Amino acid sequence: MEHLVPYIYIVSAVLFILSLKWMNSPVSARRGVFAGEVGMLLAITGTLISHQVFNWQWIFAAFLIGTAVGIPIAYIMPMTAVPQRTAMSHACGALAAALVGTAEFYADPNRPKFILVALMIETLLGFLTFTGSLMAMGKLQEVLPQRPITYRNQNLINFTLFVIALGLGIRLIFVPEAMWMFPVFAGLALLFGVLLIIPIGGADMPTVIALLNAYAGLSACAMGFALSNNLLIIAGALDGSSGLILSIIMCKAMNRSFTNVLFGAFGQIQTKAAHTEQRSHRSASPEEAASILEAASSVIIVPGYGLAVAQAQHKIRELFDNLSRRGVDVKFAIHPVAGRMPGHMNVLLAEADIPYDRLIEMDDINSEFPQCDVVLVVGANDVTNPAARTDKTSPIYGMPILDVDKARTVMVIKRSMNPGFAGIDNDLYYLDRTLMLFGDAKAFVSEILKEMPAVKAAA
Ligand code: TAP
Repeated sequence: MEHLVPYIYIVSAVLFILSLKWMNSPVSARRGVFAGEVGMLLAITGTLISHQVFNWQWIFAAFLIGTAVGIPIAYIMPMTAVPQRTAMSHACGALAAALVGTAEFYADPNRPKFILVALMIETLLGFLTFTGSLMAMGKLQEVLPQRPITYRNQNLINFTLFVIALGLGIRLIFVPEAMWMFPVFAGLALLFGVLLIIPIGGADMPTVIALLNAYAGLSACAMGFALSNNLLIIAGALDGSSGLILSIIMCKAMNRSFTNVLFGAFGQIQTKAAHTEQRSHRSASPEEAASILEAASSVIIVPGYGLAVAQAQHKIRELFDNLSRRGVDVKFAIHPVAGRMPGHMNVLLAEADIPYDRLIEMDDINSEFPQCDVVLVVGANDVTNPAARTDKTSPIYGMPILDVDKARTVMVIKRSMNPGFAGIDNDLYYLDRTLMLFGDAKAFVSEILKEMPAVKAAA
């Protein structure tokens, strides 16, 4: 059977590549997930039938524990907690890579230099990603303070620590017999992971998680070189590069640089003073909102983080059906960083079976706002803030936004005048053509629906 392993690995690698490709679009995303799952099953099968496995009892015990933990997590974890769940997966993956590297090093430290280099990279990235991911998870779950934890000379201290860890790693490559250095090296990498993440605000964690994903992938890639396993090299490289590309896309969509995310202490510490300024806004009741929607011939719904918090996607689907049956042209405008994780809105709306062709990306829909009768913003804030276009002093200046302020009428469902992630006031709320619909998104949409008698679907 062992001669089949390279072929199994090739099929598995192809499936991983296709999986990433298919996950590019909501239409093919499910197929992408399935391809990834089959690829992973083949990868595990190939590894199990290769000569490298000596102890089936341990493997079986690990399989049982992993299944017992993984299945309930998949069912229990709410959608809004997916970022921290992802961080937990990265922590586990990175720890596994680091422990394999440690075991390999202790099993035989006198190996070719190239293998030792791979082992040091694997363990360094693995250990720092492990603690870094745990910190990210803690911040997102709010068991750790979300605000950036900063102190004097922080970057210098972090840099020094990293350089010492790197120096020890290099020393171990040339003098592997000095094994006492390894625990110090590992300990510094673990500490560096903690110190790297605590100065970053909780709201920046999704971007950081994408970056940690890249580190975990690179660690796995190095492990592939250390173990001479081609599939690990391919899968790790795919993971590393896709994580990096994702974090670049997220940074671009937020008009931030990597250095700003990693060292900018942005988000939770933003002053919330601006929104206390007294400016007048207009609000409307569910009945008024319903009659405005009924009279419209085109409606664009803009979902945001509040939709996820309220879990209003199924009610939005009801509204979509109701309006569509009345002949209203309803579309959804998707901002790349609406919500708190990439594809957050696509996943929520897909869960409610909103047709994919109704979900229009920002660049494609922005030209449609001026012709649109009504824009209904549901729990979105920053991604609609015109200050990003006009106010050079705004922290979100330059961030591409959905041009909802150009529509004829704008209605915004949110609970209060409070700011969103960036902690800043939204000029949109004070425009003459904007109506604030105060309330929880799910409850408010339910109220609107009560005012709009259901219309039978055309036969
Ligand atoms: P936000 O700007 O965070 O605004 C969300 C709004 O939802 C809040 O203003 C809040 O107002 C409202 N809300 C909360 N719970 C609600 C509920 N139950 N019902 C109704 N409204 C509710 O969200 P956004 O517009 O989606 O923008 C996303 C922000 O996150 C951007 O600044 C982006 O840069 C950042 N970010 C995104 C990502 C990714 S990958 N998506 C990653 C990191 C950071 P009230 O409290 O008044 O209700």
